[in-house]
Amino acid sequence: MILRVACRVSIGLWLMLAPACAADAPARSPAEIMDILMWNREPVGGPFELTDHNGRPRTERDFRGQLMLVYFGFTWCPDICPTDLQAIGQAVDKLGRDGERVQPLFVTVDPERDTAQHLAEYVPLFHPRLIGLTGSLEAVRKAADAYKVYFAKVPAGKEAGDYTVDHTAFIYLMDRDGNYLGFFPPGTTADRMVEVIRPRLAEPSR
Ligand code: NI
Repeated sequence: MILRVACRVSIGLWLMLAPACAADAPARSPAEIMDILMWNREPVGGPFELTDHNGRPRTERDFRGQLMLVYFGFTWCPDICPTDLQAIGQAVDKLGRDGERVQPLFVTVDPERDTAQHLAEYVPLFHPRLIGLTGSLEAVRKAADAYKVYFAKVPAGKEAGDYTVDHTAFIYLMDRDGNYLGFFPPGTTADRMVEVIRPRLAEPSR
């Protein structure tokens, strides 16, 4: 199955209990999001206003002229996120010098815990050029909606602060103008990413 929701803990229960509030609750289910992506039903990507792991304000315009590999996840994710981020880092390395024209971005879906300072400790574990992005919950939700990313906070213990984040984990490839080219499913190998990205880098820029 292509859709894999990482870090899953009793999502059904959460959806029943979740109040319908704007930034806290996802507007659409993972299945709806999957449909949109599979059948190209809606545009993917678009403007975002976030803060990078060095505390600098960033928008998608900062990365014009480069391909973007955009991944949404969170640093406490035990499994899928680190695996995919590792593959992204390896793909950028395997591209050699050409990899400098690819910008990997990691957008947190857990801005509450993933502060810029925390991201600054996390992103270099995967690649020196990986940029971590965070912001207010509203700003993150806006970016996630643009990229058709599902995420929802899920209680994971007795304490109020014990939670995980259920999220879709696609890796988005965007062209030099910020337009959507396609997605890699979770678990895509670095070699497969290189196969897809290399011909794109060879295309003349418009
Ligand atoms: Ni994850």
